[in-house]
Amino acid sequence: MSANPKSVGAYDVERVWHDFPILAREVHDKPLVFLDSAASSQRPRQVIEAVDAYEKLHHANVHRGVHQLSQEATAMFEHARERVRGFVNAASTREVIFTRGTTESINLVAQSYARPRLKPGDEILLTALEHHANIVPWQMVAEQTGASIKVVPMDRRGVVSIDDFAAALTARTRIVACAHVSNALGTVLPVREITRLAHACGAVVLLDGAQAVPHQPVDLAKLDCDFYAFSAHKMYGPTGIGVLVGREALLESMPPWQGGGDMILTVSFEKTTYNELPFKFEAGTPNISGAVGLAAAIDYIDSLGVDKIHAHEQHLLAVATEKLSRVPGLTIIGTAPDKAAVISFTLDGIHPHDLGTILDAEGVAVRTGHHCAMPVMEFFGVPATARASFACYSRESDIDSLVRALARAREVFG
Ligand SMILES: Cc1ncc(COP(=O)(O)O)c(C=O)c1O
Repeated sequence: MSANPKSVGAYDVERVWHDFPILAREVHDKPLVFLDSAASSQRPRQVIEAVDAYEKLHHANVHRGVHQLSQEATAMFEHARERVRGFVNAASTREVIFTRGTTESINLVAQSYARPRLKPGDEILLTALEHHANIVPWQMVAEQTGASIKVVPMDRRGVVSIDDFAAALTARTRIVACAHVSNALGTVLPVREITRLAHACGAVVLLDGAQAVPHQPVDLAKLDCDFYAFSAHKMYGPTGIGVLVGREALLESMPPWQGGGDMILTVSFEKTTYNELPFKFEAGTPNISGAVGLAAAIDYIDSLGVDKIHAHEQHLLAVATEKLSRVPGLTIIGTAPDKAAVISFTLDGIHPHDLGTILDAEGVAVRTGHHCAMPVMEFFGVPATARASFACYSRESDIDSLVRALARAREVFG
């Protein structure tokens, strides 16, 4: 259960690729080229084996048992919490709450932090490039409280400028909720500066880190935001588990948002007292094997070095941008100077869904659709895009396969 040593030496993508068993399979009799990691990344053998060992040897319910297995499961679950804390540099494990994922983390903040506080006239500030998970929970709480939603615009590159952000902040802004990295466009937002400005106005800041944590170092002490949300399945871990990190004083002041076992200290029919942080927000049996898998995923990322993963993916982004720009009729949507390794694009004369189907027949998995960011699609005047997204295991040869498959699509559509 101890952390892997930090990485040393050069980045060996072939070795990394071989850690992911699924990448060796074929689809439609073609080698799989997996370029859909922004939707959900694949898992390395190390994560699969850690979950397997937990299931085979250690499983029992956590926190309530004196027997050996329960103690072991509890130790592994709480070890995972400490791994998460260290990975994003949160101040304390009391600030690390396990949820089902980014979506649930944001809903928790909307319902437990925002709902009791917001009043008519208060403003929730979002940006134009948010995922639906960082729009809809705020619309729901706006409807419940009479608060209103304001949106900071972006430009045609997909950049949200600090000036526009500053102009949209008002004395009525209570909450700023913004992506750290856009899933649809790849834009990296200036979240440190956004947080500083928001705090100067007295607003609380939630950052949606779903697309940031797997791809770049994240230091919450430096970012200084109030809430930070992310999902394990985008960072080589299991589905069904994610994290909300919250500032302890704020979490202390918030009521639980779900009731049940584990989140209580005492219950009678007259009165219930709530458990301490972080358990107050973790009602019911948690996703124990998911937490074990998440800890193993963090060990895995650490063993490669998240800074090295970042450099590798930035190299792939540069190569892919250059090669895709030379494909006739291809338009890249999202050209911010500071981007993560996500490339949304359209190809003249071919609907993205048809394109996705042809690429799939060639073994190339890209995502097509609105990427849960319909306002982004509307802004760029497209119904959908195709999106290639890269991860620690992506290779330059994957880009060549994509370019070849795009040529095939152009042939088919003549
Ligand atoms: C930026 C962003 N936010 C939120 C989410 C929602 O994550 P989950 O479905 O894991 O809750 C995603 C998933 O695609 C995302 O990319």
